[in-house]
Amino acid sequence: MYAETRSESRKRLLEGDISICVVGLGRIGLPTATLFAEAGARVLGADINQDLVASLNSQKCQLTDEDGLPEMFSKVVAEGKLWATTHVSEAVSSADVIIICVPTPVDSAKVPDYSYVEAASHDIGKGLKPKSLVVVESTVGPGIVEDFIMPILEADSGLKAGLEFGLVSCPERADPGKIIQHMKEIPKIIGGIDPQSTEAAASLYENALGVKVVRVSDPKTANAIKLTENLFRDVNIALANEFAVLYERLGVDMIEVIKGCSTKYNFMPHYPGPGVGGPCLPSNPYYLIVESLKVGNIPHLIRLAREINDAMPDHVVDLISGALNDAGKTLKGSTISLLGLSYKPEVKDIQQSPMEKVLVELLRLGATVRSYDPMYKGEVVFGVKVEDTLQAAVEGSDCVVIGTLHKEFENLNLDAFVKTLNMPAAIVDTRNALDPGDVINHGFAYRGVGRPVGKWISSEADTKVGLVIDLDKRSKSRS
Ligand SMILES: NC(=O)c1ccc[n+]([C@@H]2O[C@H](COP(=O)([O-])OP(=O)(O)OC[C@H]3O[C@@H](n4cnc5c(N)ncnc54)[C@H](O)[C@@H]3O)[C@@H](O)[C@H]2O)c1
Repeated sequence: MYAETRSESRKRLLEGDISICVVGLGRIGLPTATLFAEAGARVLGADINQDLVASLNSQKCQLTDEDGLPEMFSKVVAEGKLWATTHVSEAVSSADVIIICVPTPVDSAKVPDYSYVEAASHDIGKGLKPKSLVVVESTVGPGIVEDFIMPILEADSGLKAGLEFGLVSCPERADPGKIIQHMKEIPKIIGGIDPQSTEAAASLYENALGVKVVRVSDPKTANAIKLTENLFRDVNIALANEFAVLYERLGVDMIEVIKGCSTKYNFMPHYPGPGVGGPCLPSNPYYLIVESLKVGNIPHLIRLAREINDAMPDHVVDLISGALNDAGKTLKGSTISLLGLSYKPEVKDIQQSPMEKVLVELLRLGATVRSYDPMYKGEVVFGVKVEDTLQAAVEGSDCVVIGTLHKEFENLNLDAFVKTLNMPAAIVDTRNALDPGDVINHGFAYRGVGRPVGKWISSEADTKVGLVIDLDKRSKSRS
């Protein structure tokens, strides 16, 4: 495969003559394996998780929240184009192309944990045959492919990279929930250790997925691109969150501000919220911070953005406390219903979800927490059993918090809430899903991220819940 021309690779793909081993069959690896199998390759998925491998081989697709994946997966498995195994080196030894899709989290000290990549590289090195091409789709810091992964592959295989096997970085850019669509539509950034590696990988992705490819100088540039786009987002969300907290106090509505700013051609709207979650945005900055410190550079803005976004769950708890006080209640002893636990709408993933911090802090402060998330009905999440229905979660509750804007929460029935909640009750909207005036006119105490509380209070609403608004008192203490 390495050093093969574009037409050779297309011919082999059409003839079903390319074998691919995808190492790591999670959120990124499983759709990758499925798409290449659908394109005509023979795909062997390798994962250390025995239960996952057994379940995939019995045709059960784990990612039911990925549009189009379960159907495509069933088809390619039934056609015998995709199998799974726990024997990584063995699978690699029969492959022309090896695609690494193992996790790259950060540890509790926020240091990148490359141990999964390290273990996978050793297993791949042991099975690697001459002329293979290794593609690193896992997100890593600039230089990690060249200085960490490549030496392991060379030492364990006894082969020389750039001579006897090819190596590229092709960091995945797809978004959970839309991964199949994005893998075909979002251009692939491919940077190899030599031009032959880049060309071989580019031809494969173009031919198999029909996706555009952007060829870049080397693996470190490919990873710098992936990190820059994600950090750009993290920093901009931090800026939106900073404005949101400030404007709540200044009596300015952040959403009105964003709408106004959006009328200028060069403004890019970013919205405030309860913090930033998922496997990528909260972790990716640390891959760059570590590499930055190695060369004596302190990335102030990137670090500060992380601090601001990490502080948002605490701000949400302040908003909940303030709203409950307005309703004449205290946080301690109140029943609070969290709607939405996953970090993203319509996706079953709670990795680093800001709602975990909110939930833990509410329990610590003496509240009773009920939760509901349509993706996790009946499961225990963050130590609390998720209710089976929205109704069960909010019945008799003192405060409802919108944490993730799943479709089910897009048109909440406030009239029904008036009858169901333990009035006077509070609503805290971290996703700007509700019209604040509407919430207040229904008689609820209200708080929203970036929404100043006094702005929508009418005298009618005041008398309904007996509100006494003192902006200075908010956030100073939680009771
Ligand atoms: N999930 C996303 O939204 C997303 C988006 C873009 C990029 N990425 C990046 O893609 C990479 C993979 O992330 P993911 O979300 O698919 O992770 P995941 O946790 O969903 O899946 C990883 C899989 O790798 C397996 N694994 C771990 N070590 C292994 C080893 N040594 N050999 C074989 N299998 C092993 C695990 O058992 C698991 O099934 C990460 O670097 C991540 O940052 C993720």
